Amino acid sequence: MSQSRFATIILAAGSGTRMNSALPKVMHPIAGQPMIAYLLQAVQPLAPAAIVVVIGPQMEAVARTVAPAETVVQDPPLGTGDAVRAAFRAMSGRLSPQGEIDEVLVLYGDTPLLRRETLARFLAEQERAPAAILLAGMRPADPGPYGRLISGPDGGVLRIVEAADSNPEEYAIGLCWGGLMLIRARHLCELVDGLDRNNAKSEFYLTGIVGLATDKGLQCRAVELPAEELIGINTRAELAEAEALMQWRLRRGAMEAGATLVAPETVFLSSDTRLCRDVVVEPNVTFGPGVTVGEGARICSFSYFEGAAIGAGARVGPFARLRPGAVLEEEVHVGNFVEVKAARLGAGAKANHLTYIGDADVGAGTNIGAGTITCNYDGFNKFRTTIGKNTFIGSNTALVAPVTVGAGAFIAAGSVITGDVPADALSIARGRQVDKPGRAAAIRARLRKDKD
Ligand code: UD1
Ligand code: CA
Repeated sequence: MSQSRFATIILAAGSGTRMNSALPKVMHPIAGQPMIAYLLQAVQPLAPAAIVVVIGPQMEAVARTVAPAETVVQDPPLGTGDAVRAAFRAMSGRLSPQGEIDEVLVLYGDTPLLRRETLARFLAEQERAPAAILLAGMRPADPGPYGRLISGPDGGVLRIVEAADSNPEEYAIGLCWGGLMLIRARHLCELVDGLDRNNAKSEFYLTGIVGLATDKGLQCRAVELPAEELIGINTRAELAEAEALMQWRLRRGAMEAGATLVAPETVFLSSDTRLCRDVVVEPNVTFGPGVTVGEGARICSFSYFEGAAIGAGARVGPFARLRPGAVLEEEVHVGNFVEVKAARLGAGAKANHLTYIGDADVGAGTNIGAGTITCNYDGFNKFRTTIGKNTFIGSNTALVAPVTVGAGAFIAAGSVITGDVPADALSIARGRQVDKPGRAAAIRARLRKDKD
């Protein structure tokens, strides 16, 4: 089978009842990414001739997430077999005996841990020993609700029995179906059309096609794949298990790529987190989606990042928060209780304590004193603050945007800056200090007397 001769159908139309959620099941994120995106990332590099995702009514968000993959709506969802039939609409002539597609790979949208390499191995198995239907077998620790593979005398698979329809002997079988099936295209329509709803859930089960194929004398067989890649997510508890497995996969990947995670079990990564060589991440750090960290940067404990680029050699945290659009160039220092949003800090700039920098450009080498706030919002609109290179912003400065501070300027502590500051100027914008000698003692004496 040449790789371009298979098409993929991903099933995602189920209502996900067991999740008890307003969000379609396949949109629940794992490591910051909807679970269905993982399947697409696994299958796309294998260059299928087509990818069709079957979605339910009102699942436009799923369609947007999987684009440019085609989607078809299964309305109403009447089971996994019915979902595959719905996909035929999008594939029409291509599945016929003269069509361009030899094999159809069916994936279940709720098995996000399947890796590309494992999928490739599965496809290669079909080339080695072709069957009418190739199934992914697995032996999960708890076979629970999975379909059981009923093996024949020659080692092939005769049929799949759903747990809900099994007798005690079948239920005791440990070899389960892992939601991954490769079907020879020329048999598929006929097999799916032969399905009925005589089962515990009154649904068209896709798994029924294995028994139908056996009845027609077609050979079905299973290849065993690692259960931890095939677990299906049906409940919130399983979602949490998948999250834990994915986190370990990402942490191992980050460490192999040269990052030190001092306590990896306390660091949470997103599927797209990029940590360069010799990054050190201290305990208890969360990387939301869209974060990159340059070589040699140090991320101190209790920091939280989303949509941020951290430059090489930077030092961030402890207790720092970087929000979308935060860009820290090389050697920037961002310290405790500092929040940065939609702002660029030039090389070597420092904001070490208790600061909010939002909608701003901060020049290289600038020092932002403790308690500095960019006042970027008037309740209706956002405005930008521009700070030049090598400026010194004194502690507890409020920069009321829109405002520009010229390069080399020096702002006195406690200033409220409402107008532009020229380059190299000293700017003081606060009440002048007045000292009244002896007045404190006099006030105390009066108050004491009033109290007696
Ligand atoms: C299914 C299999 C079971 C297998 C397990 C592997 C069937 C009948 N059972 O059980 O043998 O061991 O997966 O994880 O196939 N879906 C639709 N349309 C529908 C119904 C479901 O698109 O009408 C989609 C769901 O969104 C989901 C996938 O198909 O992504 C599987 O459905 P689900 O209800 O989770 O099946 P399981 O009960 O887990
Ligand atoms: Ca499932």
